[in-house]
Amino acid sequence: MDVADYISGQSRKIEDRIYISIPDEPECIYRMLREYISRGGKRMRPVLTLACSEACGGRDEDALPYAVAIEIFHNFTLIHDDIEDNSPLRRGKPTLHEKFGIPIAINSGDALYTAVWSSLVSSNLAPEKFQKAGKMLVNAFSSVVDGQGTELEWYRSGTFELTEEDYFRMAGGKTGSLIGVSCRIGGYAAQAPEEVQAGLQEFGEKIGLSFQIKDDVLNLTADPSKYKKEIGEDIKEGKRSLITLKMLSKLEEKERARATEILKKPEKSAEEISEIIGLAESTGAIDYASSVSDKLVREAKRSLDVVKDSSKRDILEALADYVVQREK
Ligand code: IPE
Ligand code: MG
Repeated sequence: MDVADYISGQSRKIEDRIYISIPDEPECIYRMLREYISRGGKRMRPVLTLACSEACGGRDEDALPYAVAIEIFHNFTLIHDDIEDNSPLRRGKPTLHEKFGIPIAINSGDALYTAVWSSLVSSNLAPEKFQKAGKMLVNAFSSVVDGQGTELEWYRSGTFELTEEDYFRMAGGKTGSLIGVSCRIGGYAAQAPEEVQAGLQEFGEKIGLSFQIKDDVLNLTADPSKYKKEIGEDIKEGKRSLITLKMLSKLEEKERARATEILKKPEKSAEEISEIIGLAESTGAIDYASSVSDKLVREAKRSLDVVKDSSKRDILEALADYVVQREK
């Protein structure tokens, strides 16, 4: 099966349910959220939930409430993340705060966070399922907030003295944990045994990290005609990505001090941004990050050994490849 066709077929089911979870009125609050959701997005997390459920012999219907809740949560985090990062574009269009101002964008995020729980409450899950799944989701949501908070604190305090381990802990929280729970909860919906759920979670966490690292590579190297955000925005933000950390570790002391000084500047010229991208290339930091991303996908696939029927692993492996082979 073509993975893009699989994703678009499953995305339709998920989107239909998302629209049901977002109220129609008052229009001034919810119309922009419907438009935001309609911009698309890869729907990687909920598609993985359904795929993991299927791989364990489950029915889409049982996994859909979780898939929908996760995608709504993800969209909520994007709205707030774009405010936090002062990003102008999301999914190829102006971010909500750019269009409507920060107060309305914050409230729109809050509305989506509320929709996460209203979608679950109205799914009529059995009480013990609601409690168990609720725990899994809350744990992952907390990790996302902790990872995000860690990154924000690095910005606030101007910290660049970070190890790869610091980076992996932050990105594992910010990005890995939500993709991890997307996979685990698919197994849970299918009533898979605990060790299978754990393997699926590990699979998701690894592709989540791989995906985040690839996302950071694309931010500096993507074809501008395909990329839906601003190229080099991460440098403008002074992001502590695996790329910038590796680059800094490769530079001589004087060069490192200069690069750090540029990265810390609240406003950077186009020349300064290009200079840093040049250093990321010449130090091999971009190639290094790409290779780490590829290695994580290989490891993720090995976590799928818990899925006994190898034919059921195919779609999950194809989804894992899709995540890192994307160009935008
Ligand atoms: C963007 O996530 C935020 C990161 C964790 C890198 P996605 O790239 O999955 O966003 P959409 O949903 O496809 O737009
Ligand atoms: Mg961010």
